[in-house]
Amino acid sequence: MTLSLTLVQGAYIVAGLLFILALAGLSRHETARGGNRFGIIGMAIALVVTVLAATGGVDAAPLGAGGADREGSGWVGLLLVVVAMGIGAVIGLDRAKKVEMTGMPELIAMLHSFVGLAAVLVGWNSSYEETQYPAIHDVEVMVGVFIGAVTFTGSIVAFLKLSARIKSSPLMLPFRNWINLGAIVAFVVLTLVYVLLPADSVALRASILGLVTVIALALGWHLVASIGGGDMPVVVSMLNSYSGWAAAAAGFLLGNDLLIITGALVGSSGAYLSYIMCRAMNRSFFSVIAGGFGVEGGTVSDEVDYGEHREITAEGAAELLTSARSVVITPGYGMAVAQAQYPVAELTRQLRERGVDVTFAIHPVAGRLPGHMNVLLAEAHVPYDIVLEMDEVNDDLKDVDVVLVIGANDTVNPAASEDPTSPIAGMPVIRVWEAGHVIVFKRSMATGYAGVQNPLFFRENSQMLFGDAKDRVEDIIRAL
Ligand code: TAP
Repeated sequence: MTLSLTLVQGAYIVAGLLFILALAGLSRHETARGGNRFGIIGMAIALVVTVLAATGGVDAAPLGAGGADREGSGWVGLLLVVVAMGIGAVIGLDRAKKVEMTGMPELIAMLHSFVGLAAVLVGWNSSYEETQYPAIHDVEVMVGVFIGAVTFTGSIVAFLKLSARIKSSPLMLPFRNWINLGAIVAFVVLTLVYVLLPADSVALRASILGLVTVIALALGWHLVASIGGGDMPVVVSMLNSYSGWAAAAAGFLLGNDLLIITGALVGSSGAYLSYIMCRAMNRSFFSVIAGGFGVEGGTVSDEVDYGEHREITAEGAAELLTSARSVVITPGYGMAVAQAQYPVAELTRQLRERGVDVTFAIHPVAGRLPGHMNVLLAEAHVPYDIVLEMDEVNDDLKDVDVVLVIGANDTVNPAASEDPTSPIAGMPVIRVWEAGHVIVFKRSMATGYAGVQNPLFFRENSQMLFGDAKDRVEDIIRAL
């Protein structure tokens, strides 16, 4: 079926608007579900129209001289696309159903790598096409392949680090900043040579494109390998941004306006999220995108003697909680692992019924992906208005009677503000140690994600409640 160009462009504008509404909706808890729905409808429209236009062809007649007719690939093309989409959908649905909430960042990193790979393949395919403006097209090919390849290997390293298949500590090669700069200069020079070469030097042009692909693959690997575990949250959102720009580059090569718009939306929103997260972690945005530029990676020392820690029982914790006037709960990755959000919500309800003022303090990088804790608490129906950001709580913590640290570690580590040699030095943390009593829920004295010991556990007002967070919170509810 041949579609009219007006219909295709109209559908693309509607889909583009739905994507903008989706992003707007996703920026608040209350509207996130609606935002997701807009995104799904927009993507369904985009997919159906793109597939029909690519296979059935586009008739530019209604627009007159403004557009050019495009032939479709016919039924065989449609069949191939449907089969490929079917296989992809089955694998995607299976993965999405099985993935635990805690495995989400790895899955996202893996998906970003596919976008990067797709951009590389589109770039290589387009490099053999003849176009009206060869110089511009050549630059588009080079940029698309370069961003795609950086995204591809960068995302694979992020996947390996997040799933603990490789060490999360930064790779500190000598002259690493010069290596990165050299790769970018080589890319610019090779792009110029590629553009200046005549179109019939097919083998030479393919070799240059191949060389740029290899350089970009190595650069992507090196950029992310050089970034330490503590900065991985920013890397994930930065790769999200790169995957958007890679998709936009592919949109230029395929002449698909919607892919350009969508790629630019993902690219710019990912870049903005990276910027917000850098600010929240007191990291330089430039340093993170330049593969840890100017960061010398702190030291982890096992030799410091922090003293003895104290333990508390669930009954002791229940007693402290019932006599408290105000309680702050700071959840972290361990709450997600234990799936403790439901008993935590029940404990909150019971304490509030007894007149205790309960609020939640959420660190911007608690858990393993942006908004991780907020999603879990919303799932367990904790009221939004008692879930506060770190900055809204920090100044009032000295007046709080009890803080429950539930499976959080790095995000409440005083070393971040007190020890300039710590790998997490400078990262703002929730100052739980200023409260009257701190109860830390965890299974052992093991370190958190950044691999550093937490002096909070040894402070005089801190007590450890060991065990699985879900079991321990349930024990407290029974003891109340
Ligand atoms: P972490 O520092 O990772 O600490 C989590 C703690 O939970 C661990 O100390 C662990 O101790 C405990 N835990 C694990 N399973 C538990 C269970 N079943 N019951 C009770 N406790 C359990 O978490 P955080 O404070 O949320 O900090 C997040 C860290 O992840 C930061 O370093 C951040 O940079 C990084 N990160 C964040 C993101 C995003 S975007 N949020 C993405 C990647 C990395 P035990 O093993 O002793 O139980």
